[in-house]
Amino acid sequence: MRRSQMRRNMGVLTSVVLGSAVMIFAQQAIANGGGHAIPDLSNGKSIFTQGKGDVPACTSCHGEKGMGNDMMGTPRLAGQIPQFLRKQLEDFATDKRQDTTMFVMNTNAKGLTKQDRLDVATYLSSLGAEHVVTPKEQLSNLAELKANGTEVGVTHVGKAIVNYGIPKRNVPACRSCHDYNGRGVDPIYPMIGQQKMVYLINQLKKWRDGSRANDPKAQMQKVAQKLTDEEILDVATFLSQASPLTIGNTRTPERHGFMAFDVPRD
Ligand code: HEC
Ligand code: HEC
Repeated sequence: MRRSQMRRNMGVLTSVVLGSAVMIFAQQAIANGGGHAIPDLSNGKSIFTQGKGDVPACTSCHGEKGMGNDMMGTPRLAGQIPQFLRKQLEDFATDKRQDTTMFVMNTNAKGLTKQDRLDVATYLSSLGAEHVVTPKEQLSNLAELKANGTEVGVTHVGKAIVNYGIPKRNVPACRSCHDYNGRGVDPIYPMIGQQKMVYLINQLKKWRDGSRANDPKAQMQKVAQKLTDEEILDVATFLSQASPLTIGNTRTPERHGFMAFDVPRD
């Protein structure tokens, strides 16, 4: 085959491939109502602080600053990766994830529209942006928890598991997916550093017994199945206080917000 003909054939092939890609894209765009949802932060804030319809204000359980509460077993939502928060709300709304702690989140998520869930997820991720390292008084108070009779783990053992895993039992380092001190990698690996201790323990046990199973490719279930109660406690204790900053660095990796194609309109 002569060069020029080959190039012409390639050209035809390329335009066929491109043509069908454009058609698929166009069909999707039509199915989506021809556009993409754009997060509305003021609606997100209003849901967070005042609730909507039968859905109570998120602040009533997750705190004024969205930092979670160890006594209630609620997670910190402030500063979490927006795509991850949105996925959790969708998973609650479709019962892929069950709230077996307070039995409220499935109803809460269903009481919001898809757009509301996008708006509140985006708003929550913007909370606490004024400081990279969360002030200590907003983190789990280990001394207080201990005084109230809650068991607290051994920080340095937890730190070793987060950084190195437990090689002889094939437990991967949490860091290999969740990044340094569990600071998270958008869009799918949540921030688990500076998360509330009680919530971390609960989730690891739920992944382990399968009562939470909304993780892509069962990634977390496989990890948690290998952990003992004591290791879960140690890891959660360390993570609850873990700073996202590496030594000598005042910045964390940049996060990417929603891309237009992440949030097709329903
Ligand atoms: C009555 C208490 C309560 C209220 C009100 C509440 N939540 Fe929750 N929320 C919880 C509990 C408890 C959990 C943990 C569920 C579990 O253990 O699996 C949770 C979990 C979540 C999660 C999962 C976070 C993660 O890291 O996986 C998200 C997201 C969330 N809530 C968002 C909201 C939003 C948005 C609102 C307001 C519209 C709200 N919640 C109102 C109690 C509440
Ligand atoms: C192979 C990758 C991978 C490894 C290794 C891994 N994780 Fe995860 N983890 C994930 C993914 C993905 C999710 C999000 C699941 C979802 O979408 O609900 C997650 C979620 C979590 C959550 C729930 C966070 C929340 O806010 O609800 C906790 C807690 C957690 N991981 C702890 C750990 C700990 C502790 C380790 C180390 C012992 C670890 N993970 C190792 C992939 C991983």
